[in-house]
Amino acid sequence: MVREKVLDELEKNRGKQISGEQIAKDIGVSRAAVWKAINSLKKNGMNIKSTTGGGYCLNEDDDTLNFKSLKPLCKCKYIGNDLIIIPETTSTNESIKQNYSNKNDGFVLIAEKQTNGKGRMGRNFNSPEGGAYISILLKPSFKINDLSFLTLLAAVSVCDAINKCINIEPKIKWVNDIMINNKKICGILTEASIEGETGDIKNIIVGIGINIRTNISKMPKDIRDIATSLSDICVNPPRRAIVIAEILNSFENYYDIFLKENGKDKILEIYSQNLCCINKKIHVYNSFENYDAICKGVNKSGNLIVINSEGKTKILKSGEIRILTDSLIK
Ligand code: BTN
Repeated sequence: MVREKVLDELEKNRGKQISGEQIAKDIGVSRAAVWKAINSLKKNGMNIKSTTGGGYCLNEDDDTLNFKSLKPLCKCKYIGNDLIIIPETTSTNESIKQNYSNKNDGFVLIAEKQTNGKGRMGRNFNSPEGGAYISILLKPSFKINDLSFLTLLAAVSVCDAINKCINIEPKIKWVNDIMINNKKICGILTEASIEGETGDIKNIIVGIGINIRTNISKMPKDIRDIATSLSDICVNPPRRAIVIAEILNSFENYYDIFLKENGKDKILEIYSQNLCCINKKIHVYNSFENYDAICKGVNKSGNLIVINSEGKTKILKSGEIRILTDSLIK
């Protein structure tokens, strides 16, 4: 399709001017066909500047998200080799379960918006435009015991990716919240389907929702107070394609580490370094209890070690925490 080929040429020359004549020559079509394709891309909201004399320039900051803008930035060997970007869905995790569960290991589905985003503990995950909603399908051969590590390594990957994009070190609030300035910028939901008879893992879906150019002020009041977006933190937030590519690149790197011998220890070490709650007073709540405690870190399985007000050590496999005071308690 001419439109796709023109887009390819513009993307290859992002930020630089290229003449209509040159594009026409490179892809073997008429200048009129190039002109028509450019108009159609502009209508779709792409920031393309036309210059006198028939030149075109795809603005460096153009944030349209499509296969051609994302793919060249991905350095992965298998994560996102097969990748689909859609403007909107209910939930990318659910969409993979319903439509793409037969895809290969490493398949990635990205939506620009979710209408029924899923959060942890049955909650809804607010997923407006400006963010990126990414689900990675994995078909591993490890046992169910190691499943919790997927969320840990995804959290570490997102921290790494954000750091690469904006040179800020985010923090992790156990177990899956990525925080900047004490506000949540990203949430992670890992889901798995298990073979009934053998107990082996069939599919894992790692879902990552990140606020990039999200207008937080338009979110419901209760979220507005606790959420942030990269566009709230930096004057020139990175393009969504850049952030997504860094997340996928980093995810593959840490997934490879995880699969190696002693890889889990390495993931745990980095995860612990990034935790924001160690030695802080926290409130623990899950479906059957809630209490104040001091957070002491994570154990070998990634479970949270806390000491309750009676001085008793407790291990949290699931649940949620809230940090009560930012000062350290030794
Ligand atoms: C949480 O913070 O409770 C977890 C949020 C996880 C959101 C992501 S967005 C991509 C994927 N699809 C979903 O419906 N949820 C996850």
